[in-house]
Amino acid sequence: MTTPHPSHWDFDALYRGESPAQGVPPVTTVPWDTKGPKESVVAWQEQGLISGDVLDIGCGLGDNAIYLAQHGHRVTALDISPTALITAERRAADARVDVRLAVTDATELTGYRDAFDTIVDSGMFHCLDDDGKVAYAAAAHRAARAGARLLIACFSEANDDPMRGQRAVSEASVRNILGGAGWTVRAMTPMTVHRPDGVDMGFWLVTAERPPEEAAQ
Ligand SMILES: C[S@@+](CC[C@H](N)C(=O)[O-])C[C@H]1O[C@@H](n2cnc3c(N)ncnc32)[C@H](O)[C@@H]1O
Repeated sequence: MTTPHPSHWDFDALYRGESPAQGVPPVTTVPWDTKGPKESVVAWQEQGLISGDVLDIGCGLGDNAIYLAQHGHRVTALDISPTALITAERRAADARVDVRLAVTDATELTGYRDAFDTIVDSGMFHCLDDDGKVAYAAAAHRAARAGARLLIACFSEANDDPMRGQRAVSEASVRNILGGAGWTVRAMTPMTVHRPDGVDMGFWLVTAERPPEEAAQ
């Protein structure tokens, strides 16, 4: 039996320590709980790509949002899982930083329009199915201000781990989906994260921009 794609998972169940979908075992700790910011987010910050009002979408346990708040950004962090956000809230309080947290579906981003200068997505895009990716690209475009940047780290085909490979996103599909929603893809850079168990996880680091408004006619 193939493992159900994460677009069919109940992520809140996973964070509660329950099976998120038939055939997917429960875990005591989610595998992405690194208790610190991801390499991709640190790289974006150090490259000066993050500015203004920041949205961390699919923020999970909040460590990327906390890191960005510690670097002086105004951060809103959203996730579909209320359980993840309870931990994120506690970690933000422990770190004594202010992060606005809320439960929201990334494919809708209801209530957010022209609100963000930078959108950071560490590992959420590849959790969505094709329709979800298309809806999310459009919702993020609405939530972004003219000239805003969208930064995505998603699994690429260069993945040793079959479960991650199943979620791989091709360069063509990233370009088609983001371009179709009005984003201009500026860069797609491969990155490899070496897991302690020897498995290499290949990512795309995507930089896209919502074009600045054209001058009034
Ligand atoms: C692989 S985890 C990454 C978490 C975090 N960004 C990180 O780097 O550790 C993917 C996250 O996306 C969230 N997610 C999945 N589908 C979502 C959706 N439609 N809207 C909002 N969040 C979603 C999950 O709950 C999960 O926290």
